Amino acid sequence: MSSSSCAIFFFFASTFLYTSSYSFNITEILDQYDDFSTFNALLSQTKLASTINHRKTITVLAFSNEAISTFSGQSNTVIKDILSLHIILDYYDIEKLENMNKMSLILPTLFESSGDAKGKQGFLNATLTRNGDIVFGSAVPGSILNSKVEESVASQPFNVSVLHISNAIMIDVGAHAPTGSSSPVSSPPRPRPAQSPHDSGDHENADSANGVSKLNSRFDLAFALVMSSFLWFMTVL
Ligand SMILES: *[C@@H]1O[C@H](CO)[C@@H](O)[C@H](O)[C@H]1NC(C)=O
Ligand SMILES: *[C@@H]1O[C@H](CO)[C@@H](O)[C@H](O)[C@H]1NC(C)=O
Ligand SMILES: *[C@@H]1O[C@H](CO)[C@@H](O)[C@H](O)[C@H]1NC(C)=O
Repeated sequence: MSSSSCAIFFFFASTFLYTSSYSFNITEILDQYDDFSTFNALLSQTKLASTINHRKTITVLAFSNEAISTFSGQSNTVIKDILSLHIILDYYDIEKLENMNKMSLILPTLFESSGDAKGKQGFLNATLTRNGDIVFGSAVPGSILNSKVEESVASQPFNVSVLHISNAIMIDVGAHAPTGSSSPVSSPPRPRPAQSPHDSGDHENADSANGVSKLNSRFDLAFALVMSSFLWFMTVL
């Protein structure tokens, strides 16, 4: 191969390998903050982390380990429902929220797309208060908006934004949620998923996800090879 076709090959190979990988990994973003270790572990446990990573534009409202006690004794289903209410299906960083042209917005969340939400349960109300705070609450009429945005944790415009909120946003997802039943997931200081020997389910899932992305990369590499040899062939002609 001449050096120019070599360069073309590497250009294509890297382009295809790059586009085949995810643009962000929420687990890795949150992993940099000890305060969100429980929130992060719950995202992996409920498999929501993978759902988030597959989205191109998303906002995650993260709450710290102290704010997680509300989840004590809840089933995995309830935790998943509540957490998916904290995942907004669009990109909102602090700047965008501060400059909303109304005083409040109703935003659809991942809980809405799960199909389990009733009425306005799958939506959040984001309100800019008179003193300039941004507060979130359920969009269910009569809900209190007491989850204040504390700071931006991470932002990659306009794909992923992670905002630290003061409280978990709670709604009553009662129907399919027998409290304190089968799989209670409480015990606050949970180990991080990577170090946890218990979460065998998650590891299986992570392994199969890796398998898929490995397959994709191999396919992309093969495609890049075909493309570059084709281009090389064209230049030779
Ligand atoms: C970021 O989001 C836009 C659409 O909002 C999408 O076109 C783009 O591919 C995303 N970037 C990455 C790296 O996924
Ligand atoms: C995201 O990062 C975690 C921790 O490094 C890893 O286990 C997982 O496989 C990654 N997910 C993707 C989709 O790359
Ligand atoms: C959001 O909630 C506040 C307080 O309950 C309410 O005044 C406002 O009308 C709600 N916003 C929308 C768009 O419904």
